[in-house]
Parts: sequence; structure tokens; C-alpha cells
Amino acid sequence: MSQTDDHSGTRRDFLYYATAGAGVVATGAAVWPLVNQMNPSADVKALASIEVDVTDVTEGTQLTVKWRGKPVFIRYRTPEEISAARDVVLADLGLIDGKAQNANLPAEADASDANRTLDADGKWLVMMGVCTHLGCVPLGDGAGEFGGWFCPCHGSNYDTAGRIRKGPAPRNLEVPVAAFVNETTIKLG
Ligand code: FES
Repeated sequence: MSQTDDHSGTRRDFLYYATAGAGVVATGAAVWPLVNQMNPSADVKALASIEVDVTDVTEGTQLTVKWRGKPVFIRYRTPEEISAARDVVLADLGLIDGKAQNANLPAEADASDANRTLDADGKWLVMMGVCTHLGCVPLGDGAGEFGGWFCPCHGSNYDTAGRIRKGPAPRNLEVPVAAFVNETTIKLG
């Protein structure tokens, strides 16, 4: 290759990269207004987290609140519900979904009852009230074959930890970001 050819090759490369670089900048400029538009407005941000007073939620009852347009179940479990979910070997349950599906924990956390409940004793279970099959609202208060929740749409059965035990739903009911901010208040989000 002559010195001239080599030079023109380098120049072509330069032009190529320069053009590609300009393309990236142009794309960035076009995308930014859209992203900016998609940022949540102040009223939406206000709903991003809510505080729920659970003073009146007694043992064996469940409060359903609406959060981000979806139902959230807040259940104060009975000792029987806790033992049914906790006094078992996880591997023996033959779970359909072995993951905790808990937004407060790493994605790989297993579906042990302790990884699903809000408190260490397992009294409080907070979950999205949305069936993971096609999004119906499951029935609670010990419904279904496993004493937890039952989805009437296509017959999915969840246990007392909200874990899917009999499909067609493929995943455990999701546990949202939640925490106690004081003894009687749970913050969602
Ligand atoms: S939506 Fe719940 S089983 Fe289909």
C-alpha cells in the first residue's frame, strides 16, 4: 500500500467516526425532550409513596388500599397462617416460583416466608393484590386450597405467604417496597 492510499484510508475512517459521532449527538438531542416530558409531575410523585395507618387491622384481618392505581393487601396474619407458611422446609413445598418477589430484597432471594413478610415475626404480609396470571384481584381471608388467596378468574391458588401453589399464575404475589415508619404506620414506596 502506498503512502497516499494509507493516508486516504485514515481520512475515510476519520470521516466515518465523525459522522457516527454526529449521529449520536443528534439522537441525544431528539430524545431528551421526550424523556423530560416523561418525568413524573409533582402530583404523580406525591403518590409514589403513601403511609397507611394499620391501627385498626386486627389479627386475622386484611386491609386493602389503593396505591399507584392498584390494590395492595396488608394482612395481619394469625399464628396458624404464620406456621402454615413458616414451619415447612422450603424445598418440600414444590413451589412454582422459588423467588421471594420482594422489592425490598435482591432478585435472587428465595421464597422463604421470612423473605416475604414485613416483620421478623411474620405477622405482617404486604403484597400487591394483583394475580400474576392476568391481573385479577385474588380473594383473601383463607380462600383457596392453601388457605391464602384464590384468584376466581382462572383458579390460581396462593398460600398464606402469597406464594403461588397451583397455577396458572406463574409467580408469587409481588411484595412492594414497604416498611414500618412507626408501630402503626406502614409506608408503601
Ligand atoms: S388472572 Fe388470576 S388466575 Fe388468571
